[in-house]
Amino acid sequence: MDKQQSIIKMFDDISPTYDRLNRVLSFGVDRGWRKRGCESALSLFSGDRATLIDVATGTGDLILFWRKAAVKLRKTIDRVIGVDPSQNMLNIAATKRLNATLINCEASAVPLPDNAADLLSISYGIRNVIEIDKALAEFYRLLKPNGVLLILEFMSRKRQTPLDRIASFYLRRVLPTLGGLISKDPRAYAYLSESIGAFLSAKELGEKLTSIGFEIAQIKEETFGINTRFVARKPL
Ligand SMILES: C[S@@+](CC[C@H](N)C(=O)[O-])C[C@H]1O[C@@H](n2cnc3c(N)ncnc32)[C@H](O)[C@@H]1O
Repeated sequence: MDKQQSIIKMFDDISPTYDRLNRVLSFGVDRGWRKRGCESALSLFSGDRATLIDVATGTGDLILFWRKAAVKLRKTIDRVIGVDPSQNMLNIAATKRLNATLINCEASAVPLPDNAADLLSISYGIRNVIEIDKALAEFYRLLKPNGVLLILEFMSRKRQTPLDRIASFYLRRVLPTLGGLISKDPRAYAYLSESIGAFLSAKELGEKLTSIGFEIAQIKEETFGINTRFVARKPL
């Protein structure tokens, strides 16, 4: 099994405890990251009605935050498509009232036409995509001109201040231990903290987005730099 396939299998394996663990491990703080992410992206969108593609949707958590943001900002999200290559994660998404079409596929090859979406999001997913350049180009292809991209991710970062060190201790030690205990899959949560260290910095991902053609509206770090939000637009 290649690296990408073993990552997808790992998500298949942890899918039953995924939602609960997400909340516990972030002490619920991820709700704020998601809420503010969807609201920032939706504020940048100039239209009233939108089609959304949520890539690496997993159990579909972010879709619920998009729906709440749309109500708050008085915009309509007409159509929602969630895509993910882990069938077990999608099966859990299908049990929620998401009112979304779910497609089993990878971020680097989404079987939808050019300019299919006004909004495209990927939360805590891009770090798992081996063919990242191909996936980012795919996001550009899928978005309409003026469409808005939202990425939420734990980026790799040099941690120097005392608060940085606390964040680093949490990500490297506390999170893999707690995650392993609760999910009974230590391998998966060891992977989570290793993959953060091995991933791009916010600056590097920002440069990739710009080189593809996106206009960056926002790169915002939150909670001692644990979470990074990217909001970008495909120009007209
Ligand atoms: C940490 S979960 C995030 C799920 C969801 N977006 C959320 O915010 O809770 C990462 C997701 O990325 C998916 N994934 C792994 N490899 C992928 C790929 N190559 N393309 C798209 N999604 C992928 C996994 O199946 C998993 O559902």
